[in-house]
Amino acid sequence: MRLGLLAVCLLSTATMALAQSDGWTVSDGWTASDGWTDGRTSPSPSPSQNSSSSLGCGCSYPGLWLDVILVADSSSSMTQAGLQTLLSYIATASLQMTIGQQVGQVSRLGIVTYSDTATLRYGLTDFASTTDILNAVFNVKLEGNGGSNIEDGIRVALNEFEKNGKGNYSNRKKVIIIAASHYEPGGSTDPQQAAATFRGNGGIIITIEYVQNHGTTVPILDSLASNCSQLTNRNEDLRASDLLDKFCQANCFCSANWDPYSLDQKCYTPDNGCYSPVTIPAAWPLAQRYCAMQNNATLPTVCDGPKAIFMTSLLKNRNEAQWTGLSRSSNGQFTWDDKTPYANCYPDTNPKWLNGTATNGQAVAQLNPSGFVNGFFGAPQFTDYLYTCQNSPCSSTLYCS
Ligand SMILES: *[C@@H]1O[C@H](CO)[C@@H](O)[C@H](O)[C@H]1NC(C)=O
Ligand SMILES: *[C@@H]1O[C@H](CO)[C@@H](O)[C@H](O)[C@H]1NC(C)=O
Ligand SMILES: *[C@@H]1O[C@H](CO)[C@@H](O)[C@H](O)[C@H]1NC(C)=O
Ligand SMILES: *[C@@H]1O[C@H](CO)[C@@H](O)[C@H](O)[C@H]1NC(C)=O
Ligand SMILES: *[C@@H]1O[C@H](CO)[C@@H](O)[C@H](O)[C@H]1NC(C)=O
Repeated sequence: MRLGLLAVCLLSTATMALAQSDGWTVSDGWTASDGWTDGRTSPSPSPSQNSSSSLGCGCSYPGLWLDVILVADSSSSMTQAGLQTLLSYIATASLQMTIGQQVGQVSRLGIVTYSDTATLRYGLTDFASTTDILNAVFNVKLEGNGGSNIEDGIRVALNEFEKNGKGNYSNRKKVIIIAASHYEPGGSTDPQQAAATFRGNGGIIITIEYVQNHGTTVPILDSLASNCSQLTNRNEDLRASDLLDKFCQANCFCSANWDPYSLDQKCYTPDNGCYSPVTIPAAWPLAQRYCAMQNNATLPTVCDGPKAIFMTSLLKNRNEAQWTGLSRSSNGQFTWDDKTPYANCYPDTNPKWLNGTATNGQAVAQLNPSGFVNGFFGAPQFTDYLYTCQNSPCSSTLYCS
């Protein structure tokens, strides 16, 4: 069932990538809330001969794998009704996710409330299903004290991540949602520093400005959020998909020891793959197989000068040759390891063939002798060259164990 959903999502992502030549990360990247992003409602993909792989992030709500802690305002600037409608909103979004305690493409949710101080209401280990979340929504009572200690809310969330977010869950992005209807910067409990430290350590902060009927706005709250991670109900147009799209964005990252080739210009998520150099050489088929063992990574596809220069930049010694994903079969067919059609990507002016095309049965290595024009050359597959694995970023459509 899960694999089925995943396959549909991957296909629809590929279809989308074809529909927009620059991939699906359109101008602001994450506005694709018209339904195709949701594996359950996406239209059936049209069959296509074109299997050029996308190196951006897909977005499948049921495929999200995040640890999320909601830090909700429970001070006197909130009301009991306000708190419950806020929790209902979060619970509504969770209905489209896979909530549970399993390891894998499953998300967990915790709930912290704050007024003068913060309290952990539900830990990451408390919800085993979306039903558990729905049952919790109306059990959270407003504290209603005067203080608005977001900093303490962050502290309690961090403690919970520290306690229950490690081990089998350490591959997950940690997300804090700060939902507030009040924020006074500059006090002794200003959360700016705590928020910046959490973001600096790889955590994601999504802010929800919660404006009540006739209430005031809290624009300064935006300053706590990660890039592109601010939400508001100010205009009464907030949808569950807005939060879920932020979750997809949070779930889009390169694992430790993998480098992005480029980042989306607005939201800074990796939009052209993640790359992990291997520092000991191998024959081409073994290099290929090693990469495949890294969550189905491939040897790299190199279509232009900037990409070739990037590949070289990953080497300690830039005069070394390294394998590309290109190989030539015994009947002369060229194939990229990631299935990019050769007609879309082949050595020409940069990279160019150094000394004639590869001969049948050879694989293709890359060398950057001049620093400007990159050379490809054919070599016997048993040659030991360095190599770098290439993969799509970890995302809701690619689980990274
Ligand atoms: C595959 O996609 C590329 C880039 O979008 C396009 O140039 C090419 O014509 C497509 N090939 C087929 C067979 O549709
Ligand atoms: C992690 O997962 C392994 C294998 O599924 C399991 O045996 C182990 O108990 C888990 N550890 C924790 C701390 O959940
Ligand atoms: C936004 O992304 C850029 C580039 O990765 C980073 O330098 C910056 O710190 C990020 N801003 C926030 C608020 O996380
Ligand atoms: C790798 O790809 C195969 C075939 O598409 C799939 O069955 C398998 O689950 C994938 N493995 C990972 C770790 O993604
Ligand atoms: C082509 O150039 C590469 C890199 O300089 C070299 O290793 C290889 O032997 C050359 N092949 C031929 C057929 O000259």
